[in-house]
Amino acid sequence: MSYGYQGGELGLFSGQKFLALRTLVAKDEAPTYVYDLDDIVNRTERLKAAFNQQVTVHYAMKANHNLAVLKTLAQVGIGVDVVSGGEIDLALRVGFPPSRIVFSGVGKTRREIQLALQHKICQINVESPGELRRIGEVARAQKTVAPVALRFNPDVNPETHPYIRTGFRENKFGMDASFFPEVQTVLGQFKDCLKLVGITLHIGSQLRDVSPLLEAVRKSIPWFQRWQEAGHQLSTFDVGGGLGIDYHSGNSEGELRAVEAYARGLLELLKPVGGRILCEPGRILVARAGVLLCQVQYLKETPYKRFAIVNTGMHHLLRPALYEAYHRILPLRESSGAEVKTYDVVGPICESADVLGHDRPFAGLQEGDWLAVMDSGAYGAVMSSHYNLQAPPREVAIRSGEVIS
Ligand code: LLP
Repeated sequence: MSYGYQGGELGLFSGQKFLALRTLVAKDEAPTYVYDLDDIVNRTERLKAAFNQQVTVHYAMKANHNLAVLKTLAQVGIGVDVVSGGEIDLALRVGFPPSRIVFSGVGKTRREIQLALQHKICQINVESPGELRRIGEVARAQKTVAPVALRFNPDVNPETHPYIRTGFRENKFGMDASFFPEVQTVLGQFKDCLKLVGITLHIGSQLRDVSPLLEAVRKSIPWFQRWQEAGHQLSTFDVGGGLGIDYHSGNSEGELRAVEAYARGLLELLKPVGGRILCEPGRILVARAGVLLCQVQYLKETPYKRFAIVNTGMHHLLRPALYEAYHRILPLRESSGAEVKTYDVVGPICESADVLGHDRPFAGLQEGDWLAVMDSGAYGAVMSSHYNLQAPPREVAIRSGEVIS
């Protein structure tokens, strides 16, 4: 565990050192994301160990594209999964070699496909026959061969928020078996410039139960084999991301054990199939490493509710407003003995959805106190907006107890 209390102060345990989060508050009191880079490295190593080095890990950059985070992951030697031209550019800039970049995403433009092909990235994950045709056209014009993997929609309905479910038949993502003839026709038309290298899937995010993930892989095996039987030399089975964390607890052992069970199941399922296994985790690598520090501006009590109004909100961390997601909210300084009262922790935005947490207990909370919104390293700063013309959050990265950016 990297964050915890020592002497009543919330901080970051980094090797032998303890860094109180209070010391990272900026002079101008701006809300701040803190990222513990050591935690990201440890989790990546743990994931690689669970996969017994038999699965190639491509970090899903959409979860967090902070420069220090990306550089750390590039240095660990894993690959990256990108979903836009902007992410391709950034991946190259922070040092991911093109051979370790996979390009996913449901709406790739011509310009983005050109960029991917120009840099000879390792694989483009294809979402529809129309997109496959477009990739073929761009590749032909660039006189190159595009390595493509076909995204399968396995029609599984995992338990998670409907907005982050992607492998159900009614979702916009991927293709089911009925697409086979049309895809085959396009592959035939662009034989000279499309190389089918594998299949890919991704059924959703924040999945705590790994059985739907394994079920999806099991249901995708026939799609892989059908393309092999059609004469394609497939080399890659990309199982996507989706592993969830326990947002209700600071103890991450349960989720890490789930990762190990997933890895065992995956290796067993895909052993007879052959090919290289690739995965695209985002949240499981970076969520725990991040906290969002914010300051209580006002305490407000109505006959019905108590509010703690803070200087951050849905414009910096959208997850609670968008998915009713739960994040623990902890005071930077524990105050013992004081009366415990519950508050809705809310932001300054003119929307009633601007709530970071409902009915949270705090002892002796006061205006000016600092709070940490925990486990916000994934889909936090990357989903922030300028709504109400609010400034973006500050971001600070820590390695070995030192601020490095
Ligand atoms: N691969 C693909 C193709 C994806 O679309 C995603 C996430 C991932 C991998 C990584 O998934 P992860 O391992 O992080 O679950 N904003 C939402 C999550 C959206 C996920 C979108 N796709 C949230 O805050 O919960």
